[in-house]
Amino acid sequence: MKVELEKNFYDFFHTKPQYIFFCPGRVNLIGEHIDYNGGKVMPCAISLGTFLAVAKNKDKKFRFRCLNFPERADLQLQTSYSKTGKEWFNYPLGIINQLIQEGHNLSGMDMLFYGNLPIGAGLSSSASVEVLTAYALLEMFQLNISKPDIALLSKKVENKFIGMNCGIMDQFAVAMGKKDKAILLNCDTLDYEYLPFETGEYALAIINSNKQRRLTDSKYNERFAECGAALKLLKKELKVQHLCDVDLNSFESHRHLINDPVLEKRALHVISENFRVHEAADALKAGELFTFGKLMYASHQSLKEWYDVSGIELDTIVEFCKTYDGVIGARMTGAGFGGCAVALVKKDQVDDFAARLTIYYKDKIGYEPEVFASEIGDGVRSL
Ligand code: GLA
Repeated sequence: MKVELEKNFYDFFHTKPQYIFFCPGRVNLIGEHIDYNGGKVMPCAISLGTFLAVAKNKDKKFRFRCLNFPERADLQLQTSYSKTGKEWFNYPLGIINQLIQEGHNLSGMDMLFYGNLPIGAGLSSSASVEVLTAYALLEMFQLNISKPDIALLSKKVENKFIGMNCGIMDQFAVAMGKKDKAILLNCDTLDYEYLPFETGEYALAIINSNKQRRLTDSKYNERFAECGAALKLLKKELKVQHLCDVDLNSFESHRHLINDPVLEKRALHVISENFRVHEAADALKAGELFTFGKLMYASHQSLKEWYDVSGIELDTIVEFCKTYDGVIGARMTGAGFGGCAVALVKKDQVDDFAARLTIYYKDKIGYEPEVFASEIGDGVRSL
């Protein structure tokens, strides 16, 4: 990949890149839609991601090119930028803008991006681009910013510049990922620990439903607002800061405060999912993969019934998994509304699983899913 990027960089800019950086995407094993509710999540970085070949230039311009998209931009260095349209380069531009706002001195740069993550598939292609750009800038301009702070800065860009009210999970996962480890992250305090993700005779399969969605257009921000509304009502009697500070017992005794069936379902998902993450962490630590798998199924059910973010495509995948002998757990991963599912599949049955799932899915949905096994890899880095 490095050689190809160097060649393409030369074709675009007639010079060699000074650096090449890589930032992965992520899957979340469990703990969905609770990062923005102060809960714990369990993502890991994967081997697919985004590359950036980059060199400083002398003409005070940021030049954005990408091998995946035809749109390009050449922008003069200025004191602030705002989002223009929906083009991909708004993500690195948002990072540049944020660093300038925080008082960092940048100069012009020629940048060529390339990603091998399926786009809009819920594997955090946008967080990957954001964290990649921030990391590249900190390395090139020797900025004193830690990786967790890069994650926070990238989240701010997503929230304020892009307009998507996401939590910290994706940016943190792609910045801090570690080979063969899941990250148990407390999204309130940002305390984290690495858990061994030892799956023995099972592989972690990623199944792309091939149903695309754009998060900013989806109901993501609506769910965010519903959680805020449920929390406000519970706070009338409970001294809590986040929905995930409420345990299941006190939820049961206070749910009448919400008195709205939709908001109650949303809160029930959030509070029960946070509890499942604790159980899942214990299961991983004890090497109880079957228990972990059951929790994955329970998480999916909750996202489907109570949080209403699954859909016929993801449900079809999980339904199939339940009937297939070599699978011990499966769930949608990421925001939902399409995108990907993850499943623990017996290693020697992955090909058969993929073939049968493809037939089943195509028959019901009309087009094929894509199944691939991904390694759990390291976070953002220089190549
Ligand atoms: C998206 C967001 C994350 C998180 C997940 C759902 O990936 O970017 O912050 O909320 O959805 O768990």
